[in-house]
Amino acid sequence: EQAKLGVFDHFMIKEINEQKFTIKRAIEHDPHLINNITEMINNAFGVFLIGCGTSYYSCVSASYLFSKVAKKHVNVILASEFRNYENFLTPKTLVIAVSQSGETADVLDAIKFAKKHYCKIVSIVNVMGSTLTRISDLVILMNSGPEICVLSTKSHTSQLAILTLLAYSCADRLNDGKLLIQKVCDNIDNIIHDNVEKLKHLANRLKDSRSVFLIGRDLAYPSALEGALKIKEVSYIHAEGFAGGELKHGTIALIDEAVPVVIFCTDMTRDLIISNAMEVKARGAYTIGIGSRNNEAFNYFIQVPDFGDANPITMIIPVQILAYYLALQRGSDPDRPRNLAKSVTVK
Ligand code: M6R
Repeated sequence: EQAKLGVFDHFMIKEINEQKFTIKRAIEHDPHLINNITEMINNAFGVFLIGCGTSYYSCVSASYLFSKVAKKHVNVILASEFRNYENFLTPKTLVIAVSQSGETADVLDAIKFAKKHYCKIVSIVNVMGSTLTRISDLVILMNSGPEICVLSTKSHTSQLAILTLLAYSCADRLNDGKLLIQKVCDNIDNIIHDNVEKLKHLANRLKDSRSVFLIGRDLAYPSALEGALKIKEVSYIHAEGFAGGELKHGTIALIDEAVPVVIFCTDMTRDLIISNAMEVKARGAYTIGIGSRNNEAFNYFIQVPDFGDANPITMIIPVQILAYYLALQRGSDPDRPRNLAKSVTVK
């Protein structure tokens, strides 16, 4: 049943709609497993979070959460660049690998390299029995069910949910983390249904754009990176995500009337990101705000309630939907984008 389309036209939109269930399943784990991993994180001398593509962006989000919630520094490294950190790998190092497939060659290579240095390995994986699960000391399964569309959607929000839970658990607040994520799940249906028509309309407005920029600050910065990846891989429109504070360091030179800018506006970052939105609007950009409150800096607005530390889980959903409709309106296949494979098993 999970591998069939049912009432949906494509797996991409089916999997986006499944998220209220998949996120809930992602955090249902034996408390002993969560406790063991929490202890490994708290006792490690050096923690590395590694992944590729979307899974890497989940790791970037998590690094903010570990810092804010658990007051813990973790290193976030692209799996393909991990070997450069050889001098910091010891038997006391913990490497947490995040991968939907558990078969990504760059991730497996990094883990084999870490094992040569006797590091401990924890993995967060969706596919049970995959190579990564077999070479890890401990595994947390995402339990998302098969993700058939090449784009990661439900696996991304499950990864975020698990990493959020771990950050809360490291701060001895596991229950608070669970309650927060449950609250998110209860709101996902509304976020989708209240915005789907607006996002379809927005896709029509943006479908001929040469480039789309996405900006965010704080926890919304990794959402901007992930949102850009979603748009480019399925619609083939150039998209770039960056931190709001970086605008003035170069990218603002590219802003003109032809460039739509998506602004992730969390309650925590409102003042500064609105001022960035004003800057790009003043240069003619078409501004699209995603957040809990509209503002005159936005030409178009998508409302998503603010969930604090869980914002990365909810704020990406409208961009997943936007990317889906951009693909449809530009005539590309959302489930099988050109040049991409679901699982990248070559280096
Ligand atoms: O299976 P993995 O999570 O290890 O895959 C990593 C990336 O290849 C994957 O996230 C890729 O970026 C997706 N196409 C993104 O939608």
